[in-house]
Amino acid sequence: MSGRVPRAFIDDLLNRVDIVEVIDARLPLKKKGREYWACCPFHGEKTASFSVSSVKQFYHCFGCQKSGNALGFLMDYDHMEFVEAIETLAQSLGIEVPYEQGNAPPRPAQGLDAMYQAMEQSAEYYQAQLKQNQPAIDYLKNRGISGQTAKNFAIGYAPPGWNNIKGDERWLVETGMLIRKDDGKQYDRFRHRLMFPIRDRRGRCIAFGGRVIDPADNPKYLNSPESPLFHKSDEIYGLFELKKAVTNIDRIFITEGYMDVVALAEHGVLTAVATLGTAINNRQIEALFRVCKNLVFCFDGDAAGKQAAWRSLEQCLASLKEGRLARFLFLPEGQDPDSYISEFGKESFDSQVEQASTLTAYLFDSLLKECNIRSLEGRAQFLDRLRPYFEQIPLQSLKDQILTEVEARLGQQIDSRMLRLLGEDKPAPRAAIRAPEQHWTPTRLAINLLLKKPALGASTGTHNELADSGIPGVDLLLRILDILHEEPDISTQNLLARFSGDDHETHLYKLAAMEPPVENDESLELMFADCLQSLQKQYIHHRQKQLIAKLQSGEALTEAEKSEHRKLFANKT
Ligand code: UTP
Ligand code: MN
Repeated sequence: MSGRVPRAFIDDLLNRVDIVEVIDARLPLKKKGREYWACCPFHGEKTASFSVSSVKQFYHCFGCQKSGNALGFLMDYDHMEFVEAIETLAQSLGIEVPYEQGNAPPRPAQGLDAMYQAMEQSAEYYQAQLKQNQPAIDYLKNRGISGQTAKNFAIGYAPPGWNNIKGDERWLVETGMLIRKDDGKQYDRFRHRLMFPIRDRRGRCIAFGGRVIDPADNPKYLNSPESPLFHKSDEIYGLFELKKAVTNIDRIFITEGYMDVVALAEHGVLTAVATLGTAINNRQIEALFRVCKNLVFCFDGDAAGKQAAWRSLEQCLASLKEGRLARFLFLPEGQDPDSYISEFGKESFDSQVEQASTLTAYLFDSLLKECNIRSLEGRAQFLDRLRPYFEQIPLQSLKDQILTEVEARLGQQIDSRMLRLLGEDKPAPRAAIRAPEQHWTPTRLAINLLLKKPALGASTGTHNELADSGIPGVDLLLRILDILHEEPDISTQNLLARFSGDDHETHLYKLAAMEPPVENDESLELMFADCLQSLQKQYIHHRQKQLIAKLQSGEALTEAEKSEHRKLFANKT
C-alpha cells in the first residue's frame, strides 16, 4: 500500500455515495418509517434491529451496538482493508483515488502493472520448473506436502544457474528478481530453491520466499527485497489463500513460517497465516481481526518463542474491541506448528489449541511470575506492572473482566487504592459503567445535537474553561467543538469519520443514533444553548468548591484567584 489517501477525498467520497445503496447491494434492506432495516449481519438475530439511516448516512445495530459509515461497513462486512474499501467506493462512482506521497515509498507513476506481470510470469515459470525437478518434488514429498497443497500455494522451484529468469529486465530488477552488479551485469536472485510466492490480498504475486533444498546452502530462507509492490511489514503470508479456501472463518492461526502455513493446510487446518520473518505489528493484527474476531497466536515453547509471544500481546492490546479474542498457544519446546501436526496429527493439534491461554490468562501468568503477591508490596508491584497493559485496552467490558481477574488472583476486592495503582482514578462502580441504558446528560445531549446539526457548533465559543471542570465526557465535546470551529461546514458523517479508529468512536455513534427529545430546528438551538448553560453552571459550581476548599485549608488565594472568586460568587444563580 503506497501513499495515504487525502482526507478531503475521503470526505468527498462519503458525501457522494449513499450508504443505503452500498449496504442494500450486499444485505437487502426494508424501509420502515424513516430508516431502513435488516437482521444484523454482525450478530445472530431473528428480528431486525440493524438500522441504516439515509439522513445520517450511517448504520447502527440496536442489538449489538455495532455502527459505522459506508467505509466501516465494507471493512466489517466484506473484510476489506481501509484503502480497499475506499477503492471500492471510488470505483462504484467511477473515480480515481488520489494517493499522497507520504512517508511511504513513492508510488511509481508507471510500471506497477508491468511489475505485477513480471512477478506473475516468474511464479508461473517456477511452478513449471517444479514439475520437472525430481529432487525438489522429493523434498516436498518428504516434508509431507501433497501436489494439491503445493498447487494451492503455487509453490515452485528456482533451478540452479544464474540466468534463468526471463522477462522485462527493468521490472525484474525493480522487484528484486534480478540483482544488478556494479558492472551492470545481472543475475538471478533465487537459485536452486523451493519458491513460495507471497500474494497480496487480491491474489497478485508481489514477492517470493525461497527455501534452500540443500541443507549446506544458506541463508535457509531468502526473501524478495522491499519493492514498490512489496512492503514486508504490511503483508501476511497465506491470507489470500485462506480467504479463497474458507468462507466461514472461525479462527485464524498466526504462525511464524511459510512451512507452518502450508503444513497446517495439508492437515486440514486451512486458516493459518504467517508473518514474513518479522515480528507482527498492530496493523497486521488489525487486518486479521477484521477478517476474523478469533486469533490464535502459535509459538514455539522456547525462549525466543516466549519473547515473540510477549511482543504479540503488546501489539494486540489496542485492538481488543467488541468481541475480539486473542489466544496464545505454546507448543512443546523445539516444535513448530509444522513439525507438531506432522508428528502428532490434527486431533492432537486441535486439543493443544483447546488449551491455549486466553490473553488475560497469559498476561496474568507472566506478570505474577515476577511478583510475590502474598506480600502487600508484591501486590502493589503487580498492579504497577499490570497498569501499562491495562491502560491500553480500549474496551471497558474487557477492563472489567480484568479487574474481576485481579480480584480472583489476589483474593481481595478491588478498592480505590488498587484502582489508583492501575491508573483508574475515578473509582466508578463497575455495574454503572456496564449499564446499557443511556440517559441524557447535558454533555451527551450537547454532543448528540452537534452530531445532528454540526452548524450549531460554529456559532458557539470555545469553552476551553470547561476542560478543567471534571465533567465526564466534556473533553470529547470540546474536541468536537474544535473540529467545528476549524471546519464549520462539515457534515455529520465527515465529523464522525474524524473519530474513525478513535477510542470514542463507538460511543459517538451510539449518541448519534439516539433521538433528541425534540424535532424542529429552532428548538434544537434552544436546547443546545440550554446544555451549554447547564455545563457552565456545573463548571462554576466546581470552581467555587475548589476555591472554597483552598480557603478552608488555610492557603491564601492568588490575586487571580481572588478576582475569580469575586466573579464566580457574583454570578451566583
Ligand atoms: P524458521 O527458521 O522457524 O523456519 O523461520 P521454518 O518456518 O520452521 O522453516 P522450515 O520448517 O525449516 O522449512 C521462520 C520464518 O522466518 C523467516 C522465514 O519467513 C521463515 O518462514 N526466515 C527464516 C528468513 O526470512 N530467513 C531465514 O534464513 C530463516
Ligand atoms: Mn519448521
